[in-house]
Amino acid sequence: MKIGIDKIGFYTPAMYIDTGDLAEARGVEPGKFKVGIGQEKMAVAPKTQDSVTLAANAALRILTQDDIDKIDYVIFATETGVDHSKAAGIFAHDLLGLKKSARSIEIKQACYSATAGIQIAKGHVALNPDSRVLVLASDISRYGLNTGGEITQGAGAVAMVIARDPKLMTIESPSVYQTDDAMDFWRPLYSDTAYVQGKFSVIQYINFFKELFAQYQEKTQTSLKDFEALVFHTPYTKMGLKALQAVLEDADEADKKRLLDYYEVAKHYNAIVGNIYTGSLYLNLISLLEQNNSLEDGATIGLFSYGSGSVGEFFTGVLQPDYRNHLLTEQHVQMLEDRKQISIDRYEKVFMDTIPNGIGDIELDIEADPAPICLAGIKDHMRQYVNKNHL
Ligand code: HMG
Repeated sequence: MKIGIDKIGFYTPAMYIDTGDLAEARGVEPGKFKVGIGQEKMAVAPKTQDSVTLAANAALRILTQDDIDKIDYVIFATETGVDHSKAAGIFAHDLLGLKKSARSIEIKQACYSATAGIQIAKGHVALNPDSRVLVLASDISRYGLNTGGEITQGAGAVAMVIARDPKLMTIESPSVYQTDDAMDFWRPLYSDTAYVQGKFSVIQYINFFKELFAQYQEKTQTSLKDFEALVFHTPYTKMGLKALQAVLEDADEADKKRLLDYYEVAKHYNAIVGNIYTGSLYLNLISLLEQNNSLEDGATIGLFSYGSGSVGEFFTGVLQPDYRNHLLTEQHVQMLEDRKQISIDRYEKVFMDTIPNGIGDIELDIEADPAPICLAGIKDHMRQYVNKNHL
């Protein structure tokens, strides 16, 4: 049975900063952020958007009534969840009006967990061929103002329906994966910003890719020629490029050109959104699928998933007939164009204006946020979400 991604969509908040403005404010050469890091714009989340609302807004774009009737499993991958006990998937389940006879859970392993979610979904569909599984990957990346990681922040979510006979891309077997206990990036329970050993995280990421890519090729007796394009977890676009270049040293010119050209296409959305942690690899995939004009049905795409800490996986997907007709290219481009650029002064205020820990009652202004699904406040320590389409 063919199982894979039947639908895919993403959402990012309505505000962004230009990384040139951030460079100026931080006394850094703009070339470092634009070229050295490879980021153009960075999404900024207002406090009416959290990982739940970002994911639900992404899912709204892709779900039809038929999906709502058939989805029997919600797998919510996040490392910036909103409750230590209750799964973010349950909030999303309710906001999207999914049927009661569905499982809803939350899973975590840094930026890797959406891939775990897809593999769990694949197993579920293999056992229950009529099932449709909603996999949500949603995060707000925060390192702090004036930190080394600040330029690699972002916010957004990817929503995918995993089903049999997928319209977009199959998820092939085998895949190769590995775990290595490393402190390259982490976020203790008491902190709303990440801790990172930046240079070590870059080395760890590249080593994971080289090892897994070599293992995959050995296991499947494949070589660079067998991959039409490679997509990467993309904390910033120079990161995926560095990893790709690390395996192109001995490649022939045709393989080099093809893989580097497709990397340019795949990095486009990541460069103007920023790091969205769990959804980052899948945003790279969406960009490749929506922005390329030469990838044909049947092309094999290699996917590298990496989550600090660390767990990584390399696997492949095959593009399905007429996949282009099932993408949301226009809506996504429009959403990105409609975003409002804000000043660094305003970004700093928004960044600091978080809901203080322990606040049991607060009302938030949802009118200023154009998103259909928002966090409207907290009442008796219970988060209050609204879908404006249902008001
Ligand atoms: P840094 O020290 O600010 O930057 O840290 P740098 O000094 O290494 O410079 C970056 C690049 O800019 C260099 O190029 C410079 O040469 C270049 P490279 O050697 O890398 O090719 N540069 C310039 N280029 C053009 N014009 C100029 C110029 N000046 C310098 N004028 C670092 C950068 C990424 C380490 C930092 O931002 C950071 O710590 N970020 C957060 C960690 C991160 O994103 N790590 C990625 C791997 S780990 C991962 O992906 C997992 C993660 O998503 C979390 C999860 O799993 O949940 C993060």
